[in-house]
Amino acid sequence: MRILMVSLAFASGLLGTLALMGQQKAAPPKLTFVTKNGNVTFDHAAHVMREKGDCAACHPKLFAQDAKAPLNYKAALHRTAETSMTSCASCHRMGGAAFESKGNCAKCHMKG
Ligand code: HEC
Ligand code: HEC
Ligand code: HEC
Repeated sequence: MRILMVSLAFASGLLGTLALMGQQKAAPPKLTFVTKNGNVTFDHAAHVMREKGDCAACHPKLFAQDAKAPLNYKAALHRTAETSMTSCASCHRMGGAAFESKGNCAKCHMKG
């Protein structure tokens, strides 16, 4: 009974949160992108916090809410996205809100 009440409370809290956000899935804390140049851990929670919880800073204009959707960031070692200011390079580019790819490979790609 107690377990049932707890899970009911949890379920309704979760549903309430989802309804408030108007989302179908909860935001993931972290996502890992597997690449041949070393995996990239994207701290989704840290990115959301820096955008002050504004999902629309990224969804849907830059990314689908689907970790299996293509990022479209890798072409020409990120230069294509940096020139068009799309995908991660909407922010991660020279003069953008965050560090560009050049000289910063290891800030994203973990090797070995
Ligand atoms: C700084 C950009 C950014 C912000 C802000 C952001 N997201 Fe995301 N989100 C991403 C990226 C990148 C992905 C992965 C997209 C891909 O793999 O194609 C993603 C994926 C997701 C997914 C799919 C997870 C899965 O396992 O398939 C959900 C759900 C999601 N975000 C919810 C949210 C919610 C809710 C907010 C606001 C609270 C938010 N996001 C804000 C960048 C962002
Ligand atoms: C809406 C702007 C925005 C987008 C889009 C964005 N980032 Fe960031 N990112 C930032 C900011 C701001 C920082 C912190 C400032 C800095 O370090 O230059 C940051 C920091 C990071 C860091 C350092 C660790 C951390 O989170 O503090 C990594 C790694 C990173 N981003 C990867 C990515 C990847 C991969 C993508 C695309 C899937 C992406 N970012 C998309 C704004 C963004
Ligand atoms: C802001 C984070 C970030 C930085 C900085 C960054 N990368 Fe990436 N890189 C990624 C992500 C995320 C992907 C996967 C992109 C996609 O699927 O479109 C990727 C993909 C790649 C790929 C494609 C690998 C494959 O599996 O096809 C190569 C090559 C690459 N990066 C090289 C580099 C080099 C070289 C640098 C430094 C000059 C660099 N990256 C800097 C995040 C970053």
